[in-house]
Amino acid sequence: MFDLVIKNGTVVSPSSNVHCDVAIRDGKVAALGTFDASEAKRTIDAGGKYLMPGVIEAHMHCMAPFQGCLGANTFYQQSVSGVFGGVTMFMDFANVFQGKSVMEAVKERRAEMEESAIDFSIHGKFVKSPAELVEKEIPELAAYGVPTFKCFMTYKKEGVMIDEETLIKVFEKAKEVGGLPMLHCEDNTMAEDAIEKVKRTGDLSWVNFAKTKPVQCEAAAFERACRLAEYVGTAILVVHTTNDEALNAARKAHKKGQAVYVETGPHYLTLFEDNYKKENGYLYLCSPPLRTPKDAEDIWRGMQDGTISVTGSDDCTYDVNEKAAFLEKTADGKYIQDFTKVVNGMSGLEIRLPILLSEGVNKGRLSINQVCALTSTNIAKIYGCFPQKGLIAPGSDADIVIVDMEKELTLSKDVLHNNISYCLHDGFKIKGYPVMTISKGNVILEDGVFKGKKGAGEFIRRKIDHKYLEKHSLE
Ligand code: URP
Ligand code: ZN
Ligand code: ZN
Repeated sequence: MFDLVIKNGTVVSPSSNVHCDVAIRDGKVAALGTFDASEAKRTIDAGGKYLMPGVIEAHMHCMAPFQGCLGANTFYQQSVSGVFGGVTMFMDFANVFQGKSVMEAVKERRAEMEESAIDFSIHGKFVKSPAELVEKEIPELAAYGVPTFKCFMTYKKEGVMIDEETLIKVFEKAKEVGGLPMLHCEDNTMAEDAIEKVKRTGDLSWVNFAKTKPVQCEAAAFERACRLAEYVGTAILVVHTTNDEALNAARKAHKKGQAVYVETGPHYLTLFEDNYKKENGYLYLCSPPLRTPKDAEDIWRGMQDGTISVTGSDDCTYDVNEKAAFLEKTADGKYIQDFTKVVNGMSGLEIRLPILLSEGVNKGRLSINQVCALTSTNIAKIYGCFPQKGLIAPGSDADIVIVDMEKELTLSKDVLHNNISYCLHDGFKIKGYPVMTISKGNVILEDGVFKGKKGAGEFIRRKIDHKYLEKHSLE
């Protein structure tokens, strides 16, 4: 007897669409085929719909102290919001500052994340650190099931930037233990110099923010990261990539056989720098900044040609009170524009899959198979939880999102579940939306109602298959 049979849907993988039933037992996919309703305790009819492996979010910042702010969601709230967007596993970063043990920070994060309704994992983070700390902790982290480590190439003033000496040590040690450094690529020297120059003009309006971190600033750090990775011989993953200059650095590395994986996010595909001209442009401040529609087309092309392997929302759910916390007001109640006083980041966890389905699949830019790879399978492979996650196949966790490609919806704060009072995609029309989310065989989103349980999520220990680290290939 199966616990659940999902009938008549189309099961999606990066390489196939198979019309079949999915049988689930004890939280795992038991079999694909044709099954009778009498063989299961519950049957769901998914006729006309697609079954995709649950979305994995490997880039988010929840309850993360940054630039004086923390974010509006708890991990439980965040997991509920994700479920409405088809997310069945998420990963956040350890809160690390100089002098702190990364291992300890990971364990603290794990305790905070235990309340999640969906499975979770954690990335380590390295800032400027003594070589001994890197040498001791990277093997410990990998043994604990945390083989991924974020390093910021900027934010020196915020105290989270890594220096190149530590970065090389992280690369060396990651290579040794089968780990993967994740890089935020912006050239700090360029960014800080540009900010100082803008400060001297006295015009710190939102539009000038983007000018302090142009594509060259991102590409310079991306190129440097590739060079250092080549020198050490390690694989790397570059997060939130926004433009062709950066992608060309990846293409060059790929030609040399380097395992350089690239992530982009939904906001760079749908929101552009003209938003900084708005009165409420501070809500759109993020790093790297929003770019142009032409950059977005280049990013779509990067996903089409395989230069970009994964998407991540880089979700930072700051409400207005935090975004504007350090801004002053004029006598008539308007914020005095000063981008140096606004925390960077925007939310997106719940809308990553819908945006890729709507703007990607339904607009002919991507196949549903590419979206499957970009939102789940490639993430599971690169981050080391495949085939437990990222696949609908016998033995895999029954983490499934059922998608209705005809479902239409207009985004607004009322249709999202993320605990903030605004939606940067307000009025954005979507066609193609998750209608049911299943986590380890349990239906946790049905008929628009969350049915999951606080604390049902488990810590997933990850280990990356060496073949993904040795060369740029996700076969
Ligand atoms: O603006 C952003 N992206 N804020 C979150 C931290 C980061 O850089 O990923
Ligand atoms: Zn970043
Ligand atoms: Zn981030």
